[in-house]
Amino acid sequence: MPCQACASLPRYLQQEEILEQECKTLISSLPKENGWVASHLYKYQGFWNPARHVRGILTCQENFEARNSDVFLVSTPKSGTTWLKAILFTLINRKHCPINQNHPLLRNNPHDLVPFLELKLYVDNQIPDLSTLNSPRLFATHIPFFSLPKSVHDSSCKLVYLCRNPKDTFVSLWQFSNKLRLQEMGSNSLGEAFDMFCRGVSIYGPFWDHVLDYWKESMEKPHKVLFLKYEDMKEHPIDNLRCIAEFLGCPFSEQEEALGMLEEISKLCSFDNLSNLEINRTGKLSSGEQNKAFFRRGEVGDWKNHLTAEMVEKLDHITLHNFSGSGLEL
Ligand code: A3P
Repeated sequence: MPCQACASLPRYLQQEEILEQECKTLISSLPKENGWVASHLYKYQGFWNPARHVRGILTCQENFEARNSDVFLVSTPKSGTTWLKAILFTLINRKHCPINQNHPLLRNNPHDLVPFLELKLYVDNQIPDLSTLNSPRLFATHIPFFSLPKSVHDSSCKLVYLCRNPKDTFVSLWQFSNKLRLQEMGSNSLGEAFDMFCRGVSIYGPFWDHVLDYWKESMEKPHKVLFLKYEDMKEHPIDNLRCIAEFLGCPFSEQEEALGMLEEISKLCSFDNLSNLEINRTGKLSSGEQNKAFFRRGEVGDWKNHLTAEMVEKLDHITLHNFSGSGLEL
């Protein structure tokens, strides 16, 4: 594609064309499949990603230095990352950002408050200076466990991992990818997308490997990785908030509990509240995605409206097979 045409695309669609030679060479050596939004996905360290994400992961692996006090929100795409960003930001900053009409979440999309390492901070070969940020620093990432920068493994930083049942994750991803495709690209059919997802060929897929690696780490090192499920957060929002705060070493005081702080955070970060804010109905991320694309239905079980009985059986079978013996159920 000529550079002029490429420059007019949203940044999330600018891919192989903008890579420097060294990275182009690496990427051209990787297994390749058709993409869901960008033209292709590449398999880097066992997981599929567009070229721009692979470059972000590489830059991050080479340059990011974790601190012991860092907090990472890690998730599989479409598992409720936006929601958990809002929750973690509010919870961690509750002393100096009280919940009132000036709260940053009322004016900023959660993705602008909690940046992705590989998709925002280290994207497009940027190397940000993060040394001036106050602790605890809060970052987000979708990077698979074994591809995390070495300093994340070596330090005693904390990871809060979020996943969601694969049927809703798939439906959400399929709908999201179609929103991000330009009109002239047409839509991905449900059947095609389903086939790719089942083969593991989806952004940061295979889904099951991503989840399982973090699940195992959370079992081995529960002080380092807290494993959360979207469905459980929907059913027990307050218990999950309490548990996250304790895990991060900033438990709610008796006074905060009595003042209804947990309920306030839950309400502020709820789907109904966030999705109806002006900033989330009309704004855009710097990478070009519309904020409203991150808020669709926000429910458990929407897969029932989209998947055939055959698809359900197949996905359930793959999940059972992959998670067998791990103790994990989704
Ligand atoms: P649906 O497409 O099923 O509606 P991510 O943030 O990881 O991209 O995930 C997006 C999914 O989380 C979407 O799911 C979106 O609607 C849902 N979501 C966004 N904000 C939410 C919130 N505050 N509470 C619950 N779900 C939310």
